[in-house]
Amino acid sequence: MRPETGEILVSAEQISEKVREMGARITEDYRGERPLLVGILRGAVVVLADLMRHIELQCEIDFMEVSSYGTGTSSSGVVRILKDLEEDLTGRHVLIVEDIIDTGITLSYLRRSLLTRKPASLEFFTLLSKPSRRRVELDVKYVGFEVPDEFVVGYGIDYAGYFRNLKDIYALKPESIGNSDS
Ligand code: PRP
Repeated sequence: MRPETGEILVSAEQISEKVREMGARITEDYRGERPLLVGILRGAVVVLADLMRHIELQCEIDFMEVSSYGTGTSSSGVVRILKDLEEDLTGRHVLIVEDIIDTGITLSYLRRSLLTRKPASLEFFTLLSKPSRRRVELDVKYVGFEVPDEFVVGYGIDYAGYFRNLKDIYALKPESIGNSDS
């Protein structure tokens, strides 16, 4: 299944180059530490899997699942924890890994929630960011690509559960939104 009416916004080659570069930066920034990479399910699975292989340090991974969207195309503003971490964050250098930041509500909630667990540090990585959609101020240390306010799919990012497996990132045209069978 491919989004026939979408256009490639970020190609697999561009993603690969960026993830490699960000992995090298993270390796330098965390030199001497053993960071805990936290992937936010489900969208971050793909980028986390690639990013961690470019981090040349002893590191661990863990996952959280939160929900803010349901199956629609706009944020409800409500964040629920569907799956919590297995690891204790006390004294850990924690790097949250996201596929996309839209309104910023999810990460803003996670920052507040996870800081109460007393990590040594807490930073954010996102492959994509839509700055024009931001509703809350967020300090994100690692941003792959800033993208316009279009509905994007691929490389972990879904529409109604589909398209996460595409290698490239596509911008869906408005006419294909609402028709997830296309
Ligand atoms: C996406 C994305 C972030 C969140 C960002 O997840 O992975 O977690 O939305 O939106 P925000 O900045 O407006 O809060 P989604 O809820 O679509 O779940 P998924 O990762 O399972 O697809």
